[in-house]
Amino acid sequence: MNLPSFVQLIDVGPRDGLQNEKQPVPAAVKIELVHRLEAAGLTEIEVTSFVSPKWVPQMADNAQVMAGLQRQAGVRYSVLTPNLQGFEAALQSKPDEIVVFGAASEAFSHKNINCSIAESMERFAPVVQAALAAGIAVRGAMSCTVGCPYEGDVAPERVGYLAKLMKQIGVQRVDVADTIGVGTPLKVQRAIEATLAHFDVAHICGHFHDTYGQALANTLAALEMGVWNFQSSVAGLGGCPYAKGATGNVATEEVVYLLHGMGIDTGIDLDRLVDAGAFISDFLQRKSNSRVATALLNKRAG
Ligand code: HMG
Ligand code: MG
Repeated sequence: MNLPSFVQLIDVGPRDGLQNEKQPVPAAVKIELVHRLEAAGLTEIEVTSFVSPKWVPQMADNAQVMAGLQRQAGVRYSVLTPNLQGFEAALQSKPDEIVVFGAASEAFSHKNINCSIAESMERFAPVVQAALAAGIAVRGAMSCTVGCPYEGDVAPERVGYLAKLMKQIGVQRVDVADTIGVGTPLKVQRAIEATLAHFDVAHICGHFHDTYGQALANTLAALEMGVWNFQSSVAGLGGCPYAKGATGNVATEEVVYLLHGMGIDTGIDLDRLVDAGAFISDFLQRKSNSRVATALLNKRAG
Protein backbone atom coordinates (compact mmCIF):
# COMPACT_ATOMS: atom_id res chain seq x y z
CA MET A 1 0.00 0.00 0.00
CA ASN A 2 1.32 3.40 -0.98
CA LEU A 3 -0.41 5.61 1.59
CA PRO A 4 0.07 9.38 1.80
CA SER A 5 1.66 10.79 4.96
CA PHE A 6 -0.65 13.84 4.99
CA VAL A 7 -4.30 14.24 4.05
CA GLN A 8 -6.03 17.53 3.32
CA LEU A 9 -9.60 17.60 4.56
CA ILE A 10 -12.29 19.99 3.37
CA ASP A 11 -15.18 20.27 5.78
CA VAL A 12 -18.35 20.71 3.76
CA GLY A 13 -20.63 20.70 6.82
CA PRO A 14 -21.70 24.35 6.67
CA ARG A 15 -22.78 23.86 3.03
CA ASP A 16 -23.54 20.21 2.19
CA GLY A 17 -24.32 19.51 5.84
CA LEU A 18 -26.81 22.28 6.42
CA GLN A 19 -28.34 22.83 2.97
CA ASN A 20 -30.98 20.17 3.54
CA GLU A 21 -31.95 21.27 7.06
CA LYS A 22 -35.65 22.03 7.28
CA GLN A 23 -35.39 24.24 10.38
CA PRO A 24 -33.84 27.63 9.73
CA VAL A 25 -30.27 27.83 10.96
CA PRO A 26 -29.38 31.46 11.68
CA ALA A 27 -26.37 32.94 9.89
CA ALA A 28 -24.72 33.51 13.29
CA VAL A 29 -24.80 29.76 14.00
CA LYS A 30 -23.30 28.95 10.60
CA ILE A 31 -20.57 31.54 11.18
CA GLU A 32 -19.81 30.12 14.62
CA LEU A 33 -19.62 26.63 13.12
CA VAL A 34 -17.05 27.80 10.55
CA HIS A 35 -15.02 29.48 13.31
CA ARG A 36 -15.09 26.32 15.41
CA LEU A 37 -13.93 24.24 12.44
CA GLU A 38 -11.03 26.64 11.96
CA ALA A 39 -10.22 26.37 15.65
CA ALA A 40 -10.05 22.59 15.21
CA GLY A 41 -7.45 23.04 12.48
CA LEU A 42 -9.53 22.76 9.30
CA THR A 43 -7.83 24.78 6.57
CA GLU A 44 -10.47 24.28 3.89
CA ILE A 45 -14.14 24.93 4.56
CA GLU A 46 -17.04 24.88 2.10
CA VAL A 47 -19.10 27.70 3.55
CA THR A 48 -22.25 28.17 1.47
CA SER A 49 -23.80 28.19 -2.00
CA PHE A 50 -24.91 30.98 -4.28
CA VAL A 51 -27.85 29.05 -5.69
CA SER A 52 -31.49 29.92 -6.10
CA PRO A 53 -33.10 30.50 -2.68
CA LYS A 54 -36.26 28.95 -4.15
CA TRP A 55 -34.36 25.72 -4.73
CA VAL A 56 -32.33 25.71 -1.52
CA PRO A 57 -33.83 28.12 1.05
CA GLN A 58 -31.29 27.25 3.75
CA MET A 59 -28.46 28.85 1.70
CA ALA A 60 -30.33 32.14 1.13
CA ASP A 61 -28.13 33.88 3.74
CA ASN A 62 -24.97 33.14 1.71
CA ALA A 63 -23.66 36.72 1.57
CA GLN A 64 -24.46 37.35 5.23
CA VAL A 65 -22.57 34.24 6.31
CA MET A 66 -19.55 35.10 4.18
CA ALA A 67 -19.56 38.71 5.46
CA GLY A 68 -19.67 37.55 9.09
CA LEU A 69 -16.55 35.38 8.91
CA GLN A 70 -13.41 36.45 10.69
CA ARG A 71 -11.12 35.05 8.09
CA GLN A 72 -7.88 33.44 9.02
CA ALA A 73 -4.76 33.47 6.90
CA GLY A 74 -4.06 30.06 5.44
CA VAL A 75 -7.71 28.98 5.41
CA ARG A 76 -9.47 28.46 2.08
CA TYR A 77 -13.16 29.39 2.03
CA SER A 78 -15.12 27.94 -0.88
CA VAL A 79 -18.66 28.46 -2.17
CA LEU A 80 -20.85 26.77 -4.77
CA THR A 81 -21.76 28.77 -7.89
CA PRO A 82 -23.94 27.02 -10.50
CA ASN A 83 -24.04 29.87 -13.02
CA LEU A 84 -22.84 33.41 -13.75
CA GLN A 85 -25.62 34.89 -11.65
CA GLY A 86 -24.39 32.94 -8.66
CA PHE A 87 -20.76 33.72 -9.44
CA GLU A 88 -21.41 37.46 -9.67
CA ALA A 89 -23.21 37.41 -6.34
CA ALA A 90 -20.41 35.33 -4.80
CA LEU A 91 -17.68 37.65 -6.10
CA GLN A 92 -18.64 40.33 -3.60
CA SER A 93 -17.99 37.83 -0.80
CA LYS A 94 -14.45 37.21 -2.05
CA PRO A 95 -14.36 33.40 -1.87
CA ASP A 96 -10.95 31.75 -2.26
CA GLU A 97 -12.42 29.01 -4.41
CA ILE A 98 -15.67 28.53 -6.29
CA VAL A 99 -17.26 25.20 -7.07
CA VAL A 100 -19.22 24.41 -10.21
CA PHE A 101 -21.22 21.24 -9.80
CA GLY A 102 -22.17 18.79 -12.49
CA ALA A 103 -23.28 15.18 -12.58
CA ALA A 104 -22.23 11.98 -14.32
CA SER A 105 -25.91 11.12 -14.77
CA GLU A 106 -28.24 13.13 -17.02
CA ALA A 107 -31.27 12.62 -14.81
CA PHE A 108 -29.49 13.97 -11.74
CA SER A 109 -28.17 16.95 -13.68
CA HIS A 110 -31.75 17.85 -14.62
CA LYS A 111 -33.11 17.35 -11.10
CA ASN A 112 -30.30 19.21 -9.37
CA ILE A 113 -29.49 22.11 -11.68
CA ASN A 114 -32.32 21.99 -14.20
CA CYS A 115 -30.24 21.36 -17.31
CA SER A 116 -28.43 18.61 -19.22
CA ILE A 117 -24.74 17.79 -18.72
CA ALA A 118 -23.87 19.55 -21.98
CA GLU A 119 -25.90 22.64 -21.01
CA SER A 120 -24.24 22.67 -17.58
CA MET A 121 -20.84 22.95 -19.25
CA GLU A 122 -22.07 25.93 -21.28
CA ARG A 123 -23.13 27.58 -18.03
CA PHE A 124 -19.95 26.67 -16.15
CA ALA A 125 -17.42 27.69 -18.82
CA PRO A 126 -17.87 31.47 -18.39
CA VAL A 127 -17.97 31.05 -14.60
CA VAL A 128 -14.65 29.21 -14.65
CA GLN A 129 -13.11 31.79 -16.97
CA ALA A 130 -14.28 34.72 -14.83
CA ALA A 131 -13.11 33.06 -11.61
CA LEU A 132 -9.64 32.28 -12.95
CA ALA A 133 -9.35 35.84 -14.32
CA ALA A 134 -10.21 37.14 -10.84
CA GLY A 135 -7.56 34.91 -9.24
CA ILE A 136 -10.13 32.60 -7.64
CA ALA A 137 -9.47 28.86 -7.62
CA VAL A 138 -11.97 26.56 -9.33
CA ARG A 139 -13.16 23.14 -8.26
CA GLY A 140 -15.67 20.97 -10.08
CA ALA A 141 -17.95 18.66 -8.11
CA MET A 142 -18.95 15.52 -10.00
CA SER A 143 -22.12 14.00 -8.56
CA CYS A 144 -23.34 10.44 -8.99
CA THR A 145 -19.98 8.97 -9.93
CA VAL A 146 -21.03 5.49 -8.84
CA GLY A 147 -24.80 5.61 -8.58
CA CYS A 148 -27.73 7.88 -9.30
CA PRO A 149 -31.05 8.00 -7.42
CA TYR A 150 -32.87 8.13 -10.77
CA GLU A 151 -30.69 6.07 -13.15
CA GLY A 152 -29.14 3.46 -10.85
CA ASP A 153 -25.55 2.32 -11.50
CA VAL A 154 -23.34 4.83 -13.28
CA ALA A 155 -20.59 3.47 -15.53
CA PRO A 156 -17.00 4.70 -15.05
CA GLU A 157 -17.07 5.87 -18.71
CA ARG A 158 -19.69 8.47 -17.71
CA VAL A 159 -17.35 9.71 -15.00
CA GLY A 160 -14.43 9.88 -17.42
CA TYR A 161 -16.59 11.83 -19.87
CA LEU A 162 -17.60 14.35 -17.20
CA ALA A 163 -14.03 14.70 -15.92
CA LYS A 164 -12.88 15.37 -19.50
CA LEU A 165 -15.50 18.12 -19.91
CA MET A 166 -14.51 19.66 -16.57
CA LYS A 167 -10.86 19.67 -17.65
CA GLN A 168 -11.72 21.21 -21.01
CA ILE A 169 -13.47 24.21 -19.45
CA GLY A 170 -10.53 24.89 -17.12
CA VAL A 171 -11.61 23.37 -13.81
CA GLN A 172 -8.46 22.93 -11.69
CA ARG A 173 -9.50 20.02 -9.49
CA VAL A 174 -12.51 17.76 -9.13
CA ASP A 175 -14.52 15.98 -6.47
CA VAL A 176 -15.44 12.38 -7.14
CA ALA A 177 -18.76 12.32 -5.32
CA ASP A 178 -20.83 9.38 -4.23
CA THR A 179 -23.94 11.51 -3.79
CA ILE A 180 -26.19 8.82 -2.40
CA GLY A 181 -23.55 6.72 -0.67
CA VAL A 182 -24.20 3.54 -2.64
CA GLY A 183 -20.59 2.97 -3.66
CA THR A 184 -18.36 0.18 -2.46
CA PRO A 185 -14.53 0.25 -2.67
CA LEU A 186 -13.98 -1.30 -6.11
CA LYS A 187 -16.70 0.83 -7.73
CA VAL A 188 -15.25 3.97 -6.18
CA GLN A 189 -11.78 2.98 -7.36
CA ARG A 190 -13.11 2.62 -10.92
CA ALA A 191 -14.66 6.09 -10.76
CA ILE A 192 -11.35 7.51 -9.52
CA GLU A 193 -9.44 5.62 -12.19
CA ALA A 194 -11.67 7.16 -14.88
CA THR A 195 -10.99 10.60 -13.39
CA LEU A 196 -7.24 9.99 -13.28
CA ALA A 197 -7.26 9.90 -17.09
CA HIS A 198 -7.88 13.67 -16.95
CA PHE A 199 -6.70 14.94 -13.55
CA ASP A 200 -3.57 14.41 -11.49
CA VAL A 201 -4.16 12.52 -8.25
CA ALA A 202 -3.32 15.70 -6.30
CA HIS A 203 -6.33 17.33 -7.98
CA ILE A 204 -8.88 14.69 -7.09
CA CYS A 205 -10.94 14.85 -3.87
CA GLY A 206 -13.06 12.03 -2.51
CA HIS A 207 -16.58 13.12 -1.46
CA PHE A 208 -18.44 10.18 -0.01
CA HIS A 209 -21.89 10.25 1.52
CA ASP A 210 -22.37 7.54 4.13
CA THR A 211 -25.92 6.38 3.41
CA TYR A 212 -24.98 2.70 3.30
CA GLY A 213 -22.13 2.92 5.80
CA GLN A 214 -19.47 2.45 3.10
CA ALA A 215 -17.81 5.86 3.18
CA LEU A 216 -14.84 4.95 5.39
CA ALA A 217 -14.13 1.82 3.36
CA ASN A 218 -14.36 3.97 0.23
CA THR A 219 -12.00 6.51 1.78
CA LEU A 220 -9.45 3.78 2.44
CA ALA A 221 -9.87 2.50 -1.13
CA ALA A 222 -9.19 6.01 -2.47
CA LEU A 223 -6.19 6.43 -0.14
CA GLU A 224 -4.73 3.23 -1.57
CA MET A 225 -4.82 4.90 -4.99
CA GLY A 226 -2.86 7.86 -3.64
CA VAL A 227 -5.81 10.25 -3.24
CA TRP A 228 -5.00 12.62 -0.38
CA ASN A 229 -7.82 15.19 -0.54
CA PHE A 230 -11.19 14.34 1.01
CA GLN A 231 -14.41 16.09 1.86
CA SER A 232 -16.38 15.26 4.93
CA SER A 233 -18.93 16.88 7.14
CA VAL A 234 -18.59 17.57 10.85
CA ALA A 235 -21.02 15.38 12.84
CA GLY A 236 -21.90 13.66 9.54
CA LEU A 237 -24.42 16.37 8.79
CA GLY A 238 -26.27 16.61 5.58
CA GLY A 239 -27.53 15.37 2.28
CA CYS A 240 -28.53 16.82 -1.06
CA PRO A 241 -32.15 18.01 -1.34
CA TYR A 242 -32.30 16.63 -4.89
CA ALA A 243 -30.96 13.16 -4.00
CA LYS A 244 -33.86 11.29 -2.42
CA GLY A 245 -32.95 9.19 0.61
CA ALA A 246 -29.32 10.29 0.69
CA THR A 247 -27.91 11.00 4.12
CA GLY A 248 -24.92 13.07 5.16
CA ASN A 249 -21.30 13.00 4.19
CA VAL A 250 -18.98 10.77 6.13
CA ALA A 251 -18.33 12.50 9.46
CA THR A 252 -15.07 14.44 9.61
CA GLU A 253 -14.50 12.95 13.07
CA GLU A 254 -14.58 9.43 11.57
CA VAL A 255 -12.10 10.30 8.84
CA VAL A 256 -9.71 12.03 11.24
CA TYR A 257 -9.85 9.07 13.65
CA LEU A 258 -9.15 6.65 10.79
CA LEU A 259 -6.25 8.70 9.42
CA HIS A 260 -4.59 9.47 12.74
CA GLY A 261 -4.92 5.81 13.68
CA MET A 262 -2.99 4.96 10.53
CA GLY A 263 -0.28 7.52 11.33
CA ILE A 264 -1.47 9.92 8.63
CA ASP A 265 -1.32 13.61 9.57
CA THR A 266 -4.28 15.98 9.02
CA GLY A 267 -3.33 18.99 11.14
CA ILE A 268 -6.68 18.59 12.90
CA ASP A 269 -7.26 18.45 16.65
CA LEU A 270 -9.87 15.70 17.08
CA ASP A 271 -11.03 16.96 20.49
CA ARG A 272 -11.75 20.43 19.20
CA LEU A 273 -13.44 18.92 16.14
CA VAL A 274 -15.71 16.94 18.46
CA ASP A 275 -16.53 20.25 20.19
CA ALA A 276 -17.48 21.80 16.85
CA GLY A 277 -19.71 18.81 16.09
CA ALA A 278 -21.31 19.01 19.54
CA PHE A 279 -22.01 22.70 18.99
CA ILE A 280 -24.00 22.15 15.80
CA SER A 281 -25.67 18.94 17.01
CA ASP A 282 -26.83 20.77 20.16
CA PHE A 283 -28.22 23.59 18.06
CA LEU A 284 -30.10 21.12 15.83
CA GLN A 285 -31.17 19.20 18.96
CA ARG A 286 -30.01 16.01 17.39
CA LYS A 287 -27.53 13.28 18.20
CA SER A 288 -24.34 13.46 16.16
CA ASN A 289 -24.11 11.04 13.23
CA SER A 290 -20.47 10.52 14.16
CA ARG A 291 -19.79 7.36 16.14
CA VAL A 292 -16.30 8.64 16.94
CA ALA A 293 -17.77 11.84 18.41
CA THR A 294 -20.33 9.84 20.40
CA ALA A 295 -17.62 7.53 21.75
CA LEU A 296 -15.34 10.41 22.73
CA LEU A 297 -18.18 12.38 24.34
CA ASN A 298 -19.22 9.29 26.32
CA LYS A 299 -15.62 8.83 27.43
CA ARG A 300 -15.43 12.46 28.54
CA ALA A 301 -18.69 12.14 30.47
CA GLY A 302 -17.50 8.93 32.14
P1 HMG B 1 -33.22 27.59 -13.17
O1 HMG B 1 -34.60 27.75 -12.66
O2 HMG B 1 -33.00 26.70 -14.34
O3 HMG B 1 -32.53 29.02 -13.42
O4 HMG B 1 -32.33 27.07 -11.96
P2 HMG B 1 -32.93 30.23 -14.32
O5 HMG B 1 -31.65 30.79 -14.83
O6 HMG B 1 -34.00 29.84 -15.29
O7 HMG B 1 -33.54 31.27 -13.27
C1 HMG B 1 -34.78 31.01 -12.61
C2 HMG B 1 -34.85 31.85 -11.34
O8 HMG B 1 -33.79 31.51 -10.47
C3 HMG B 1 -34.72 33.35 -11.57
O9 HMG B 1 -35.47 34.00 -10.54
C4 HMG B 1 -33.27 33.62 -11.30
O10 HMG B 1 -33.04 34.93 -10.90
C5 HMG B 1 -32.99 32.66 -10.17
P3 HMG B 1 -36.98 34.50 -10.76
O11 HMG B 1 -36.90 35.43 -11.93
O12 HMG B 1 -37.81 33.25 -11.03
O13 HMG B 1 -37.33 35.16 -9.46
N1 HMG B 1 -31.59 32.23 -10.13
C6 HMG B 1 -30.77 32.42 -9.08
N2 HMG B 1 -30.98 32.98 -7.87
C7 HMG B 1 -29.93 33.02 -7.03
N3 HMG B 1 -28.70 32.51 -7.31
C8 HMG B 1 -28.48 31.95 -8.51
C9 HMG B 1 -29.54 31.89 -9.44
N4 HMG B 1 -29.64 31.39 -10.69
C10 HMG B 1 -30.89 31.61 -11.09
N5 HMG B 1 -27.27 31.45 -8.77
C11 HMG B 1 -30.29 26.80 -10.77
C12 HMG B 1 -30.97 26.78 -12.13
C13 HMG B 1 -28.93 26.18 -10.94
C14 HMG B 1 -30.15 28.23 -10.29
C15 HMG B 1 -31.15 26.00 -9.79
O14 HMG B 1 -31.41 24.76 -10.34
C16 HMG B 1 -30.50 25.84 -8.43
O15 HMG B 1 -30.33 26.78 -7.69
N6 HMG B 1 -30.14 24.62 -8.07
C17 HMG B 1 -29.46 24.40 -6.79
C18 HMG B 1 -29.17 23.00 -6.61
C19 HMG B 1 -28.35 22.81 -5.36
O16 HMG B 1 -27.91 23.73 -4.71
N7 HMG B 1 -28.18 21.54 -5.02
C20 HMG B 1 -27.39 21.18 -3.88
C21 HMG B 1 -25.94 21.41 -4.09
S1 HMG B 1 -25.17 20.17 -5.10
C22 HMG B 1 -24.81 18.87 -4.00
O17 HMG B 1 -25.21 18.90 -2.87
C23 HMG B 1 -23.93 17.75 -4.49
C24 HMG B 1 -22.50 17.85 -3.99
O18 HMG B 1 -22.44 17.85 -2.57
C25 HMG B 1 -21.69 16.66 -4.53
C26 HMG B 1 -22.42 15.36 -4.30
O19 HMG B 1 -22.58 14.93 -3.14
O20 HMG B 1 -22.84 14.79 -5.30
C27 HMG B 1 -21.80 19.13 -4.48
MG1 MG C 1 -22.56 16.09 -1.37
